[in-house]
Parts: sequence; C-alpha cells; structure tokens
Amino acid sequence: MHGNKSSLRLEGIFHRSRLALEECRDRPIVIGMKKWIFLLFVGLTSYGFYKILIHPMKLYVATGNPHKITEFKRLMALHGVDFPVLFGGDYGGMPEVDENGDSYEANAQLKVEGLEAKIGEGRWIVAEDSGLEVSALSGDPGIYSARFGGKIPQTERNQLLLSRLSNSSDRSARFICCYCLKSPDGKLYFFRGVCEGTILAAPQGGQGFGYDPVFQPNGEQRSFAVMSDEQKDRISHRAMAFNALLRFLKKP
Ligand code: IMP
Repeated sequence: MHGNKSSLRLEGIFHRSRLALEECRDRPIVIGMKKWIFLLFVGLTSYGFYKILIHPMKLYVATGNPHKITEFKRLMALHGVDFPVLFGGDYGGMPEVDENGDSYEANAQLKVEGLEAKIGEGRWIVAEDSGLEVSALSGDPGIYSARFGGKIPQTERNQLLLSRLSNSSDRSARFICCYCLKSPDGKLYFFRGVCEGTILAAPQGGQGFGYDPVFQPNGEQRSFAVMSDEQKDRISHRAMAFNALLRFLKKP
C-alpha cells in the first residue's frame, strides 16, 4: 500500500531475514522433527498475527446490504484479496445514511463519511453506489434505482419499469457502479464500472437481485438473473469498478 510506514518497516524486517537466511544457506542444518513442527507452528502463528493485527492494510466496507456483501466477497475470492476486509456486521452495523447526493460518486462518498463518523478517521474505507440508467427514460431511475416507485417489492418495481417502456423501441440501458475509497490520510478516490445492455420485454430468471431479471447485458442472450454468479462477476458493473479499485490498492 502506498507510502505506508508500517509496510516499509515490515519490508525492512523481511529484507534482513532474507539476508540472514542467505548467510546460513551453505551451512548444514540438522534438526529433529519436533523442532520442525515447532518452527512451523511459530511461522503460522506469526503469519496469522501479521495478517490480523499489524497488516498494513485493513479495509472497511461501508455497507450492510447482504447482496452487495455477497458480491464483494465473491469478487475478493476471485481476485485473491489477501488483506482483512470488514463489513457492516464486523463493526456493529452500517449507520443509517441519507443518500441525498446528486451522483453515484456523491452518494458513495456520503456512505464513506457516514461510516467514518462512526469508526473514526485514519482508516481505509470504501463504499459503493449503483443504479440502472434507461435511455428511453432519460437515465432514470439512475441514482434513485433503489427507491423507484416508492416502497414496493422489487418484482413490482421491475413491472413498473417495463410498463414505462411499453411504447418504447429503444430498450438500451446500463448498470453503473461507483466505489468511493478514502485513505487514512483523508484522500478520496473514485472508481466507476459500467455494464451496457437492454431491458427485456418480460422478467427472466430467478437469480441475483434488483433489476437482474429485466436486464440483459450486451453480447448475452439471457438476463443477469439467469446467469451464474461467476458469469455475472466477469462482466458486471460492480466487477469492473471492483477491478479498478483493486488495481489501485495493489499498486506498489
Ligand atoms: P444503492 O446503491 O444501495 O443505492 O442501490 C442501488 C440499486 O440499484 C439496488 O437497490 C438495485 O435495485 C439496483 N442495482 C444495482 N446493482 C444491481 C445489480 O447488479 N443487479 C440488479 N440491480 C442492481
């Protein structure tokens, strides 16, 4: 992680250990089985201690949304994320945030700041905001996707969307996802992912969540709600934004 002092200190320790190992490489070392087991135990314990307590990177994800947590965890596993990541339940719940920003970026930032007010400054915090933009509806529901049609079940929301498009030949739409990342030194970074597609004539499939049954990504013959998790993770707006976020976090 960029400019992190504890990371530099650890690099120093690893470097000195490497030198010490190289020095004794040519000397014969004969030790018994018990000592090997002891050394293995010490090694594994230190690694666990390093990862949990003094790892330079610990990421707080500002969400309590189970769908988003599931997708985030899947993407982490897919990319082999090796630093600790904490979600809503791990820090006593995501506080209520009034998402009154005028963009995905602004709403994601509000979520980051909402969590920061709870857990304190000087941490890596990330939040996400996403939505569906339909061309024939001038980009609606967009940042209001979760509230489109008011407090109604998602199946009704999807039907409402389809009825608004019943006379429209332009079915093009896109899912947008934006991550806002705040670094311990207070800097903000934004990462966007877009998935272009079309709105189907009728809902299709029972997987996923939200508008998945009515959205067919370009190049596919089925809705997001028919695809497996792995298939969605290859092309989704969230996957694209996540890739950009991860590239940034892993940058030396
Ligand atoms: P928010 O980011 O919590 O404001 O919610 C975004 C809303 O956009 C969700 O409630 C869903 O309705 C919709 N949405 C975002 N991403 C997806 C997706 O991958 N599939 C289906 N619906 C989504």
